[in-house]
Amino acid sequence: MSVPPPFAMLAEVTHRCPMRCVYCSNPLALEPASKELDTDTWRRVLDEAADLGVLQVHFSGGEPMARRDLVALVDHATRQGLYANLITSAVLLDQEQLARLVDAGIEHVQISFQDIDAAEGDRIGGLADAHQKKLAAARYVTAAGLPLTVNAVVQRYNASRVTEFIDLAVGLGAGRLEVANVQYYGWGLLNRAALMPTREQLDEMTAVVEAARQRLAGVLTIDYVIPDYYARMPKSCMGGWARQFLNVDPAGRVLPCHAATTIPGMTFDTVHDRGLAEIWQHSQAFNRFRGTAWMPEPCASCEYREVDWGGCRCQALALTGDAAATDPVCHKSPHHQAILAMAEAESAAPSDTFVYRGARERADMQRARSPFEAQ
Ligand code: SF4
Ligand code: FES
Repeated sequence: MSVPPPFAMLAEVTHRCPMRCVYCSNPLALEPASKELDTDTWRRVLDEAADLGVLQVHFSGGEPMARRDLVALVDHATRQGLYANLITSAVLLDQEQLARLVDAGIEHVQISFQDIDAAEGDRIGGLADAHQKKLAAARYVTAAGLPLTVNAVVQRYNASRVTEFIDLAVGLGAGRLEVANVQYYGWGLLNRAALMPTREQLDEMTAVVEAARQRLAGVLTIDYVIPDYYARMPKSCMGGWARQFLNVDPAGRVLPCHAATTIPGMTFDTVHDRGLAEIWQHSQAFNRFRGTAWMPEPCASCEYREVDWGGCRCQALALTGDAAATDPVCHKSPHHQAILAMAEAESAAPSDTFVYRGARERADMQRARSPFEAQ
């Protein structure tokens, strides 16, 4: 049976990134630059994506601006009729680079912010002067007339500043703000015990977002992602496994989601082995959790099985050891209460260290306690 095409492709063009965010969802073992696909191979992948029926390409990483050929890749994508979105930390995005991207046809830019306070943002992002560069880049984006999304990454140390994040987005002229609580994958999972907000913080930020949505209707669209572990229902991760998205990692592995390589027993085809269309239709990895036939109870007989598609496979693996289990975020999972209790315990007595990516990783731990926490 033929499978409908994906509507978007995440092009993870590199894992390189000058930032070292303590919540980064990238794998703990990153692909080195020497393994990255070259320009011509990415061009072929973009051609294959357009032929397959993909409509949008999200250029991401790592930091996509770390690729010297990014403008050429954006240019190639837009010539194929693909909508090109840049997901960036913006610390390498200067005015000249932006002008070249505009000429290449970039249609939208999303910039992540770690805080509204420069020092605190730089601490969470593990890079000095990053916040000021982000502010400058965001202003270049709106001055160029491009739609801007501010991605405000929220965790226990900035949860009380959602109002200021909203003011920041409005002040920068963004059309959309994502108030995105940290998702616990990769480095975020490693640092979870330092990042988990309390239930009270969550309730407070929910109230702030709801009030702002009403106040700013027509001015700013606010997307709100709560910390999974406090939810009753899981998110429909990737819109359902192998239903809407595919992900090409820096080395050319074609993945159903960015964390799929954590799942044991999977075979991931690369763009060197087969074409994107064949991988999308026939690969073991894409078919493993596609649809509902793989589901155990309680998902198999649940009325929401075609709404959330059983939640997130990578989260089920991380929290239960079984990628085929019901996502334990779901209140029907036998693990749900234990996950909630863990979140409450971690937030009540947070770890006081962050682990940062880097060669000196072991020595490179900082006290997680924020200067704001004492206030
Ligand atoms: Fe979703 Fe499964 Fe929970 Fe039903 S039981 S709500 S399908 S995760
Ligand atoms: Fe892999 Fe959710 S991140 S299925």
